[in-house]
Amino acid sequence: MNKIAIMGAMPEEIEPIISKLDNLKETKYAANTYYEGSYKGQNVVVAYSKIGKVFATLTATSLLEKFACDMLLFSGVAGAISPDLNIGDLIIADGLCQHDLDITAFGHPYGYVPEGEVCIPTDVNLRHIAKEVAKDKGLSLVEGVIATGDQFVANPERKDWIGETFKAHALEMEGASVAVVCSSLEVPFFILRAISDSADMDASFNFDEFLESSAKISADFILSMVEKIK
Ligand code: ADE
Repeated sequence: MNKIAIMGAMPEEIEPIISKLDNLKETKYAANTYYEGSYKGQNVVVAYSKIGKVFATLTATSLLEKFACDMLLFSGVAGAISPDLNIGDLIIADGLCQHDLDITAFGHPYGYVPEGEVCIPTDVNLRHIAKEVAKDKGLSLVEGVIATGDQFVANPERKDWIGETFKAHALEMEGASVAVVCSSLEVPFFILRAISDSADMDASFNFDEFLESSAKISADFILSMVEKIK
């Protein structure tokens, strides 16, 4: 049977999932708490990383290496770049890039380091399952590039630059770290985000207002995916 890692960045992003688990067991590891349990008979390990790429890398690695998960689903919120994405809308990443990775001084493109990739693709199978869940629930799902960086973006110029440079539809602060870890360890992964703000002048106010509701939309969707993964 699969052991599915479910990861968020903040407590609000995983609380709606942990509250639905059976046989819950908490383990402290690497200055974090990991929640092992089951959902409708499926074994899962759930954790939030704390915000940003470094903590996300640590948590994703721990979920795979210490807890031996064989796939990873990320659930959380994002800032919209695409004007078609409104608060509460769901986006799945077809690929992840790092918008703050810059060695352009050496002639490389933004987001690229030697032996890496600008955009790391997510697992096609898991995306397919997400589309089936969306169809069952009558929800619309946008699929596109999500850009990651160690910045809360609340600036229209920065947001537009990220959108144009990486053809990105949304931005957040952890997804590309999960992508680097999972692709390196050859573990299938999936990144889902519900929009909490539009990365503009109102972003911090909107984020505070909509974090909890958007995080729950994403978490509920992830639980439906867990049910479908056999
Ligand atoms: N996650 C949600 N909104 C965000 C924003 N505006 N910038 C970075 N990460 C986010």
